[in-house]
Amino acid sequence: MKTGAPWHEPQPHGDHAQFAADLHAALCRSPKAISPKYFYDEAGSRLFERICDLPEYYPTRTELALLQAHAADMAAQLGPQVQLVEYGAGALRKVRRLLDRMPRDGVQFVPVDISGPHLLAACSDLAADYPGLAIQPLVADFTRPHALPPCPAGSRRVGFFPGSSIGNFTPAEADAFLRLAAAELAGGGLLIGIDLEKDPSLLHAAYNDAAGVTAAFNLNLLARARRELGAEFPADGFEHLAFYNPAYRRVEMHLRARRPLLLHLGDTAYAFDEGETLHTEHSHKYTVSGFQAMAARAGFAPGKAWTDQNGWFALLWLEAVGPTPGR
Ligand code: AVJ
Repeated sequence: MKTGAPWHEPQPHGDHAQFAADLHAALCRSPKAISPKYFYDEAGSRLFERICDLPEYYPTRTELALLQAHAADMAAQLGPQVQLVEYGAGALRKVRRLLDRMPRDGVQFVPVDISGPHLLAACSDLAADYPGLAIQPLVADFTRPHALPPCPAGSRRVGFFPGSSIGNFTPAEADAFLRLAAAELAGGGLLIGIDLEKDPSLLHAAYNDAAGVTAAFNLNLLARARRELGAEFPADGFEHLAFYNPAYRRVEMHLRARRPLLLHLGDTAYAFDEGETLHTEHSHKYTVSGFQAMAARAGFAPGKAWTDQNGWFALLWLEAVGPTPGR
């Protein structure tokens, strides 16, 4: 088995102290808002996988179908001798479609994820199904500067960022991530999944599923605060809220107080008015040309793009060539 020991950053993030500090900061803010990365503890990662199988949640199956149909073409863009870095690796379902088309001994696979136990379980499943594949997991928050394992001699570094997770970033954060990725992938490139602008009723359904899994996923953030930080709040005090905000071209998720209430965290009591929300996520929707223009400013030359027949989702190949001069 060639799976390396997990490569931890010198100072691991995502611990309880960081969550507590970020939640305090989130509750002091006006309007209250927290990073969606805190959805993904073990329970949250499992709920997210259930979301991916929901009939209303089109992104996962649309992207998987694109990967299935065009894997050979995509693998050809990546190249035969690569260190393949997957950002926000999750269950490692999608990368298999690429790995199936790549020479087993030409790839070092580096999945990066903030959820350590989840990542390591996914890696051991992958290692069982892809014997001989070199896997070097990295437990890290890839939105912050992080140290990748060195690129093997004779290989170039290429990135894979599926799932339209970049939609969670504000345009400024997306720009910062793309600049960081363009620097660490210089000479290689990035294969990225983006969710496209579409009829808002389809978006509404995808984030308000009938089975209530997305609601449970959203509410898990506060459940996690109770489990890990001893936060106290009325059990039925908050409800799931998700809607498309056309001004920002994004779906917003919030946790909304159903009545005036207090949330206790450590020694502090944070007051919520009735209807006041904690903003938990935004999920930006893009056009292919709009995203390529943003990527170009950050250092990527646009390459091939693959889209489904409905135009709901796209995978883009971007060459890391360096930022456009003068910006
Ligand atoms: C993993 C960020 C792509 O924004 O659609 C799913 C997360 N939130 N349902 C998305 C999510 C609610 C998802 N991303």
